[in-house]
Amino acid sequence: RQRLGTVNTLDDAALILRHARNVVMLTGAGISVACGIPDFRSKNGLYARLGEWDGLNEPTDMFSLPFFRDNPIPFYKFAKELLPGQFNPSFTHHFISEIDRRGRLLRNYTQNIDGLEKTAGVKRYLQCHGTFDTCRCLTCGRKWNTMEKIKHHILNQRVPLCEFCSGGKDFWEHASPGVKPPQGVIKPDIVFFSEQLPELFDLFVDEDCTRVDCVIVMGSSLKVKPVAGLLGRVPRYIPQILINREIVGRPHAFDLCLLGDCDTVCFELACRMGWRDLVEERGDL
Ligand code: OAD
Repeated sequence: RQRLGTVNTLDDAALILRHARNVVMLTGAGISVACGIPDFRSKNGLYARLGEWDGLNEPTDMFSLPFFRDNPIPFYKFAKELLPGQFNPSFTHHFISEIDRRGRLLRNYTQNIDGLEKTAGVKRYLQCHGTFDTCRCLTCGRKWNTMEKIKHHILNQRVPLCEFCSGGKDFWEHASPGVKPPQGVIKPDIVFFSEQLPELFDLFVDEDCTRVDCVIVMGSSLKVKPVAGLLGRVPRYIPQILINREIVGRPHAFDLCLLGDCDTVCFELACRMGWRDLVEERGDL
Protein backbone atom coordinates (compact mmCIF):
# COMPACT_ATOMS: atom_id res chain seq x y z
CA ARG A 1 0.00 0.00 0.00
CA GLN A 2 1.23 3.46 -0.78
CA ARG A 3 1.71 5.34 2.48
CA LEU A 4 1.02 8.98 3.10
CA GLY A 5 4.22 9.05 5.16
CA THR A 6 4.46 11.82 7.72
CA VAL A 7 1.45 13.87 6.63
CA ASN A 8 -0.71 12.94 9.56
CA THR A 9 -2.90 15.98 9.81
CA LEU A 10 -6.53 16.98 9.96
CA ASP A 11 -6.10 18.74 6.60
CA ASP A 12 -5.08 15.46 4.97
CA ALA A 13 -8.07 13.68 6.46
CA ALA A 14 -10.38 16.47 5.27
CA LEU A 15 -8.87 16.20 1.78
CA ILE A 16 -9.56 12.45 1.66
CA LEU A 17 -13.08 12.98 3.00
CA ARG A 18 -13.78 15.73 0.48
CA HIS A 19 -13.16 13.30 -2.37
CA ALA A 20 -14.84 10.31 -0.75
CA ARG A 21 -18.28 9.22 -1.92
CA ASN A 22 -18.52 5.81 -0.26
CA VAL A 23 -17.28 6.10 3.30
CA VAL A 24 -17.30 3.07 5.59
CA MET A 25 -17.26 4.01 9.26
CA LEU A 26 -16.45 1.43 11.88
CA THR A 27 -17.39 2.70 15.31
CA GLY A 28 -17.14 1.48 18.88
CA ALA A 29 -17.93 2.40 22.45
CA GLY A 30 -15.49 5.36 22.47
CA ILE A 31 -17.88 7.50 20.42
CA SER A 32 -20.53 7.29 23.17
CA VAL A 33 -18.22 8.05 26.09
CA ALA A 34 -18.99 11.77 25.84
CA CYS A 35 -22.70 10.88 26.11
CA GLY A 36 -22.09 9.39 29.56
CA ILE A 37 -21.82 5.73 28.55
CA PRO A 38 -18.53 4.13 29.63
CA ASP A 39 -16.55 2.12 27.10
CA PHE A 40 -15.36 -1.41 27.87
CA ARG A 41 -11.57 -1.57 27.93
CA SER A 42 -10.39 1.88 29.07
CA LYS A 43 -9.04 2.42 32.58
CA ASN A 44 -12.47 3.56 33.79
CA GLY A 45 -14.34 1.28 31.41
CA LEU A 46 -17.02 -1.24 32.19
CA TYR A 47 -14.67 -4.22 32.38
CA ALA A 48 -12.56 -2.47 35.06
CA ARG A 49 -15.67 -2.15 37.25
CA LEU A 50 -16.03 -5.91 37.43
CA GLY A 51 -16.37 -5.93 41.23
CA GLU A 52 -19.63 -3.99 40.98
CA TRP A 53 -21.35 -6.79 39.08
CA ASP A 54 -22.49 -9.68 41.31
CA GLY A 55 -21.11 -13.05 40.47
CA LEU A 56 -18.97 -12.25 37.41
CA ASN A 57 -15.70 -14.20 37.31
CA GLU A 58 -14.39 -12.63 34.11
CA PRO A 59 -15.48 -9.24 32.74
CA THR A 60 -16.58 -10.89 29.54
CA ASP A 61 -19.01 -13.14 31.48
CA MET A 62 -21.34 -10.19 31.02
CA PHE A 63 -21.79 -11.34 27.42
CA SER A 64 -21.48 -15.10 27.93
CA LEU A 65 -24.58 -17.14 27.09
CA PRO A 66 -23.90 -20.01 29.57
CA PHE A 67 -23.33 -17.45 32.32
CA PHE A 68 -26.50 -15.53 31.39
CA ARG A 69 -28.60 -18.71 31.51
CA ASP A 70 -27.44 -19.26 35.11
CA ASN A 71 -27.42 -15.66 36.22
CA PRO A 72 -28.97 -12.98 34.00
CA ILE A 73 -28.78 -10.33 36.75
CA PRO A 74 -25.40 -8.69 35.89
CA PHE A 75 -26.37 -8.33 32.23
CA TYR A 76 -29.72 -6.76 33.15
CA LYS A 77 -28.00 -4.38 35.56
CA PHE A 78 -25.75 -3.29 32.70
CA ALA A 79 -28.74 -3.12 30.34
CA LYS A 80 -30.52 -0.73 32.71
CA GLU A 81 -27.50 1.60 32.58
CA LEU A 82 -27.46 1.96 28.82
CA LEU A 83 -30.98 1.18 27.69
CA PRO A 84 -31.76 3.29 24.61
CA GLY A 85 -33.78 6.42 25.34
CA GLN A 86 -31.70 7.67 28.28
CA PHE A 87 -28.86 9.39 26.41
CA ASN A 88 -28.32 12.01 23.72
CA PRO A 89 -26.02 11.58 20.71
CA SER A 90 -22.55 13.16 20.71
CA PHE A 91 -21.11 15.50 18.09
CA THR A 92 -19.51 12.41 16.53
CA HIS A 93 -22.92 10.75 16.01
CA HIS A 94 -24.16 13.92 14.31
CA PHE A 95 -20.99 14.03 12.20
CA ILE A 96 -21.73 10.50 10.94
CA SER A 97 -25.30 11.55 10.28
CA GLU A 98 -24.08 14.56 8.28
CA ILE A 99 -21.91 12.33 6.09
CA ASP A 100 -24.97 10.14 5.55
CA ARG A 101 -27.25 13.14 4.82
CA ARG A 102 -24.76 14.30 2.19
CA GLY A 103 -24.96 10.90 0.48
CA ARG A 104 -21.36 9.96 1.27
CA LEU A 105 -21.92 7.21 3.82
CA LEU A 106 -21.77 3.70 2.43
CA ARG A 107 -22.30 2.16 5.87
CA ASN A 108 -21.71 2.78 9.55
CA TYR A 109 -20.77 -0.56 11.10
CA THR A 110 -21.37 0.11 14.77
CA GLN A 111 -20.46 -2.23 17.59
CA ASN A 112 -22.60 -0.16 19.93
CA ILE A 113 -25.97 -1.20 21.29
CA ASP A 114 -27.02 2.18 22.68
CA GLY A 115 -29.06 3.06 19.58
CA LEU A 116 -27.58 6.57 19.33
CA GLU A 117 -26.94 6.30 15.57
CA LYS A 118 -30.69 6.09 15.04
CA THR A 119 -31.36 8.97 17.45
CA ALA A 120 -28.86 11.12 15.54
CA GLY A 121 -30.67 10.34 12.28
CA VAL A 122 -28.08 8.03 10.69
CA LYS A 123 -29.89 5.86 8.13
CA ARG A 124 -27.20 3.60 6.71
CA TYR A 125 -25.98 1.81 9.81
CA LEU A 126 -25.70 -1.77 10.97
CA GLN A 127 -25.68 -2.67 14.66
CA CYS A 128 -23.15 -5.48 14.37
CA HIS A 129 -23.51 -6.51 18.01
CA GLY A 130 -27.28 -6.56 17.95
CA THR A 131 -30.03 -4.48 19.44
CA PHE A 132 -32.49 -4.09 22.31
CA ASP A 133 -35.27 -3.54 19.76
CA THR A 134 -35.98 -7.25 19.47
CA CYS A 135 -35.73 -10.06 22.00
CA ARG A 136 -36.43 -13.78 22.36
CA CYS A 137 -37.26 -16.44 24.92
CA LEU A 138 -34.28 -18.68 25.63
CA THR A 139 -36.60 -21.63 26.36
CA CYS A 140 -39.10 -21.69 23.45
CA GLY A 141 -37.38 -19.29 21.01
CA ARG A 142 -40.48 -17.05 20.68
CA LYS A 143 -39.50 -13.64 19.32
CA TRP A 144 -40.81 -10.13 20.07
CA ASN A 145 -40.14 -7.25 17.70
CA THR A 146 -40.43 -4.52 20.27
CA MET A 147 -38.45 -3.24 23.18
CA GLU A 148 -41.68 -2.51 25.08
CA LYS A 149 -41.88 -6.19 26.04
CA ILE A 150 -38.80 -5.84 28.24
CA LYS A 151 -38.16 -2.14 28.78
CA HIS A 152 -40.18 -1.50 31.95
CA HIS A 153 -38.87 -4.68 33.57
CA ILE A 154 -35.27 -3.70 32.85
CA LEU A 155 -35.84 -0.21 34.23
CA ASN A 156 -37.36 -1.75 37.38
CA GLN A 157 -34.39 -4.10 37.64
CA ARG A 158 -36.42 -7.25 36.97
CA VAL A 159 -35.66 -10.09 34.59
CA PRO A 160 -38.27 -10.30 31.80
CA LEU A 161 -39.89 -13.73 31.34
CA CYS A 162 -41.88 -15.37 28.56
CA GLU A 163 -45.30 -15.98 30.13
CA PHE A 164 -45.81 -19.05 27.90
CA CYS A 165 -42.82 -20.82 29.46
CA SER A 166 -42.93 -19.48 32.99
CA GLY A 167 -46.49 -20.39 33.91
CA GLY A 168 -47.98 -16.93 33.41
CA LYS A 169 -45.48 -14.58 35.04
CA ASP A 170 -43.78 -12.05 32.80
CA PHE A 171 -40.92 -11.11 35.12
CA TRP A 172 -38.67 -12.53 37.79
CA GLU A 173 -37.31 -10.66 40.76
CA HIS A 174 -34.26 -12.50 41.91
CA ALA A 175 -34.30 -13.32 45.59
CA SER A 176 -30.89 -14.19 46.94
CA PRO A 177 -27.50 -14.84 45.32
CA GLY A 178 -27.09 -18.28 43.80
CA VAL A 179 -30.81 -18.77 43.08
CA LYS A 180 -31.24 -19.99 39.50
CA PRO A 181 -33.72 -18.19 37.27
CA PRO A 182 -36.97 -19.93 36.23
CA GLN A 183 -37.77 -21.18 32.71
CA GLY A 184 -38.49 -18.64 30.01
CA VAL A 185 -35.86 -15.94 30.58
CA ILE A 186 -36.00 -13.43 27.73
CA LYS A 187 -32.76 -12.18 26.20
CA PRO A 188 -32.53 -9.04 24.07
CA ASP A 189 -30.97 -9.72 20.66
CA ILE A 190 -27.56 -8.45 21.77
CA VAL A 191 -24.79 -10.58 20.25
CA PHE A 192 -23.02 -12.46 23.04
CA PHE A 193 -19.58 -14.04 22.63
CA SER A 194 -19.80 -17.16 20.42
CA GLU A 195 -23.13 -16.02 18.95
CA GLN A 196 -23.48 -15.24 15.24
CA LEU A 197 -23.51 -11.64 14.07
CA PRO A 198 -26.63 -10.49 12.19
CA GLU A 199 -26.80 -12.20 8.77
CA LEU A 200 -26.59 -8.83 7.06
CA PHE A 201 -23.05 -8.30 8.35
CA ASP A 202 -21.34 -10.61 5.87
CA LEU A 203 -23.66 -9.60 3.05
CA PHE A 204 -22.99 -5.91 3.59
CA VAL A 205 -19.23 -6.37 4.01
CA ASP A 206 -18.95 -8.36 0.75
CA GLU A 207 -20.93 -5.73 -1.11
CA ASP A 208 -19.37 -2.65 0.52
CA CYS A 209 -15.78 -3.79 0.05
CA THR A 210 -16.21 -3.49 -3.72
CA ARG A 211 -17.40 0.14 -3.48
CA VAL A 212 -15.72 1.69 -0.43
CA ASP A 213 -13.35 4.61 -1.11
CA CYS A 214 -12.49 5.63 2.46
CA VAL A 215 -12.55 3.88 5.83
CA ILE A 216 -12.82 5.71 9.13
CA VAL A 217 -12.45 3.83 12.43
CA MET A 218 -13.59 5.70 15.54
CA GLY A 219 -13.67 4.87 19.24
CA SER A 220 -12.86 1.19 19.05
CA SER A 221 -10.03 -0.92 20.47
CA LEU A 222 -10.48 -3.26 17.48
CA LYS A 223 -10.13 -6.18 19.92
CA VAL A 224 -13.30 -7.99 18.92
CA LYS A 225 -13.73 -10.08 15.80
CA PRO A 226 -15.28 -10.48 13.31
CA VAL A 227 -16.03 -6.74 13.21
CA ALA A 228 -12.35 -5.81 13.55
CA GLY A 229 -11.61 -8.24 10.70
CA LEU A 230 -13.60 -6.04 8.34
CA LEU A 231 -10.51 -3.87 7.82
CA GLY A 232 -8.57 -6.79 6.38
CA ARG A 233 -11.26 -7.26 3.73
CA VAL A 234 -11.01 -3.71 2.40
CA PRO A 235 -8.69 -3.39 -0.65
CA ARG A 236 -5.26 -2.23 0.47
CA TYR A 237 -5.21 0.90 -1.68
CA ILE A 238 -8.26 2.40 0.06
CA PRO A 239 -7.29 5.10 2.60
CA GLN A 240 -7.92 4.11 6.21
CA ILE A 241 -8.19 6.76 8.92
CA LEU A 242 -8.15 6.17 12.68
CA ILE A 243 -9.81 8.64 15.05
CA ASN A 244 -9.21 7.41 18.58
CA ARG A 245 -7.63 8.25 21.92
CA GLU A 246 -4.93 5.65 21.26
CA ILE A 247 -3.40 3.74 18.37
CA VAL A 248 -5.16 0.43 17.84
CA GLY A 249 -5.15 -2.40 15.31
CA ARG A 250 -2.24 -3.93 13.45
CA PRO A 251 0.99 -1.89 13.36
CA HIS A 252 0.89 0.70 10.55
CA ALA A 253 -2.60 -0.40 9.56
CA PHE A 254 -3.79 3.18 9.14
CA ASP A 255 -2.75 5.83 6.65
CA LEU A 256 -3.77 8.57 9.06
CA CYS A 257 -4.06 8.47 12.84
CA LEU A 258 -5.88 11.41 14.38
CA LEU A 259 -5.37 10.86 18.08
CA GLY A 260 -7.66 12.52 20.60
CA ASP A 261 -11.30 12.68 21.60
CA CYS A 262 -13.44 11.87 18.61
CA ASP A 263 -15.81 14.80 19.23
CA THR A 264 -12.89 17.25 19.02
CA VAL A 265 -11.43 15.62 15.91
CA CYS A 266 -14.83 15.39 14.17
CA PHE A 267 -15.54 19.03 15.00
CA GLU A 268 -12.22 20.09 13.43
CA LEU A 269 -12.97 17.96 10.37
CA ALA A 270 -16.48 19.42 10.06
CA CYS A 271 -14.97 22.94 10.15
CA ARG A 272 -12.50 22.03 7.40
CA MET A 273 -15.28 20.48 5.34
CA GLY A 274 -17.24 23.73 5.61
CA TRP A 275 -20.24 22.00 7.17
CA ARG A 276 -21.46 25.18 8.83
CA ASP A 277 -24.92 24.00 9.86
CA LEU A 278 -23.46 21.08 11.75
CA VAL A 279 -20.76 23.21 13.36
CA GLU A 280 -23.20 25.94 14.36
CA GLU A 281 -26.05 23.72 15.50
CA ARG A 282 -24.10 20.98 17.25
CA GLY A 283 -20.72 22.59 17.92
CA ASP A 284 -21.35 23.01 21.62
CA LEU A 285 -22.10 19.32 22.23
P1 OAD B 1 -13.49 -0.73 23.78
O1 OAD B 1 -13.83 -0.28 25.15
O2 OAD B 1 -12.80 -2.02 23.63
O3 OAD B 1 -12.59 0.38 23.05
C1 OAD B 1 -12.94 1.76 23.10
C2 OAD B 1 -11.84 2.55 22.42
O4 OAD B 1 -12.28 3.91 22.31
C3 OAD B 1 -10.52 2.57 23.18
O5 OAD B 1 -9.44 2.41 22.26
C4 OAD B 1 -10.48 3.96 23.83
O6 OAD B 1 -9.18 4.48 23.97
C5 OAD B 1 -11.25 4.77 22.80
N1 OAD B 1 -11.95 5.94 23.35
C6 OAD B 1 -12.59 6.08 24.54
N2 OAD B 1 -13.16 7.28 24.63
C7 OAD B 1 -12.89 7.95 23.49
C8 OAD B 1 -13.20 9.25 22.98
N3 OAD B 1 -13.95 10.12 23.68
N4 OAD B 1 -12.74 9.59 21.76
C9 OAD B 1 -11.98 8.71 21.03
N5 OAD B 1 -11.64 7.48 21.46
C10 OAD B 1 -12.10 7.09 22.66
O7 OAD B 1 -14.85 -0.70 22.93
P2 OAD B 1 -15.19 -1.47 21.57
O8 OAD B 1 -14.02 -1.52 20.67
O9 OAD B 1 -16.45 -0.88 21.07
O10 OAD B 1 -19.29 -6.31 22.83
O11 OAD B 1 -15.49 -2.94 22.11
C11 OAD B 1 -15.92 -3.92 21.21
C12 OAD B 1 -16.88 -4.87 21.87
O12 OAD B 1 -16.30 -5.39 23.05
C13 OAD B 1 -18.17 -4.23 22.32
O13 OAD B 1 -19.12 -4.09 21.28
C14 OAD B 1 -18.63 -5.16 23.40
C15 OAD B 1 -17.34 -5.56 24.05
O14 OAD B 1 -17.28 -6.86 24.52
C16 OAD B 1 -20.62 -6.46 23.02
O15 OAD B 1 -21.32 -5.59 23.50
C17 OAD B 1 -21.21 -7.71 22.56
